Amino acid sequence: MNDASERGDGRRTVTASAAAPVVLSARGIHKSYGSRAVLTGVDIDLRRGEHVAIIGPSGSGKSTFIRCLNLLERPEQGSIELLGETVFDSEHPERAMKQRNLRKRVGMVFQAFNLFTTHTALQNVSLAQRRVLGRSKAEADERSRELLTRVGLGGHQDSLPSRLSGGQQQRVAIARALALDPQVMLFDEPTSAIDPEMRSEVLSVMRDLAERGTTMVVVTHELRFAERAADRMMFLADGEVLESGTPSQLLRSPQHARVEQFVRSLEGVGE
Ligand SMILES: Nc1ncnc2c1ncn2[C@@H]1O[C@H](COP(=O)(O)OP(=O)(O)OP(=O)(O)O)[C@@H](O)[C@H]1O
Ligand SMILES: [Mg+2]
Repeated sequence: MNDASERGDGRRTVTASAAAPVVLSARGIHKSYGSRAVLTGVDIDLRRGEHVAIIGPSGSGKSTFIRCLNLLERPEQGSIELLGETVFDSEHPERAMKQRNLRKRVGMVFQAFNLFTTHTALQNVSLAQRRVLGRSKAEADERSRELLTRVGLGGHQDSLPSRLSGGQQQRVAIARALALDPQVMLFDEPTSAIDPEMRSEVLSVMRDLAERGTTMVVVTHELRFAERAADRMMFLADGEVLESGTPSQLLRSPQHARVEQFVRSLEGVGE
């Protein structure tokens, strides 16, 4: 069950209750590139409806960590479960979930939108539904229209990505990920490649997802967004979680000077 709690801005956000099942759980994730250890034992537990923001300095391993969660990167050590099913277990690498199954269940939105440039917005959203879920064209297009309307692009279904702003392209990418009805959505700095004036439209779509109870992990530098939308925040530094807590704990009374400095350096940046 989810609880609807009143936020400071008066909007109601659906947040996970402590009784909600754990959707995604990762334990002891280690990842190196050559001799460079990038992740040295990162854990996460994500309950249904929970929204976790990951912050931290450049190079701290944020992208690597969320890419490990859907096996775009393969950890050397650790284990990952999705609703109790093994996604990855370094003790039993043969049990790793097939990329195809994982793709349906974990949606990913990248900094670069990665849309097919020769396909319209509608085609971009429909393609994976047909390939991965086997939906008919009519079924996929209907779902795509519904999602494009939901992200505010009802009037742009037939536009090619080159005709859309960065913020609009990213909303198509969000609709594309949602179209597979994933159990978790992962976002890696979804607004950092977008002109500042277009960022709020993407953040507002993400806030809407949070309010609908979507389970999500968001790597972001948008601290005001994270404060309003996230239930929990993790600060990654040098490949490990230096501090985690509620957004207000990390942003307003951090335990570590490094977190405080980082937050201060971003003050004034954002939504
Ligand atoms: N494919 C790769 N091959 C080699 N090194 C990599 C690779 N991907 C990442 N790294 C290195 O791993 C470290 C962590 O990178 P990562 O992209 O996870 O950091 P980040 O916290 O997402 O940084 P940013 O805020 O700049 O996006 C960096 O030192 C980076 O250079
Ligand atoms: Mg990154």
